[in-house]
Amino acid sequence: MERTLVLLKPDCVQRRLVGRVFSRFEDKGLNVVALKLLRVTPELAKRHYAEHVAKGWYPTLEAFITGGPLVAMVVEGLDVIRVVREMVGATNGLNATPGTVRGDFSSSRQMNLVHASDGPESAAREIGIFFQPDEIHAYEPTIRPWLRAEDEN
Ligand code: CDP
Ligand code: MG
Repeated sequence: MERTLVLLKPDCVQRRLVGRVFSRFEDKGLNVVALKLLRVTPELAKRHYAEHVAKGWYPTLEAFITGGPLVAMVVEGLDVIRVVREMVGATNGLNATPGTVRGDFSSSRQMNLVHASDGPESAAREIGIFFQPDEIHAYEPTIRPWLRAEDEN
């Protein structure tokens, strides 16, 4: 079982799309095991986006991601890092495939509504930035027998 960090970015909150985007992950049968609303500080933004800090466009990304509260969550499931990246779609909403979150709701390279970890190392690192271990609540959904076969774990 894998875990990934998902952020519903400030544009998602401001546009009142949190419920609709959150529902997609629930509908898929994924397990949300941690959830909070917070305002990202410039320091937190620099940690989370460490790989982008030196880029020319980073200051505008920081202004965007710190510009209002966002929803952070940890999502759990089989192969969930890849599955969620595919559900989120290409970075630029103009290029993202219809049916993905960005393809359906974003027309921007920056304001693309969702962040999702891109690999196991970044998922572990990013989850650690946003959540303490005791804020993550693993549980077995009671409908688990109707989500997948016993031998698919
Ligand atoms: O989020 P993703 O992994 O798809 O893209 P990224 O290349 O890691 O970039 C991180 C975030 O920076 C994007 O999701 C955009 O919100 C933002 N960005 C930007 O503001 N300007 C760019 N030229 C590229 C990305
Ligand atoms: Mg990225």
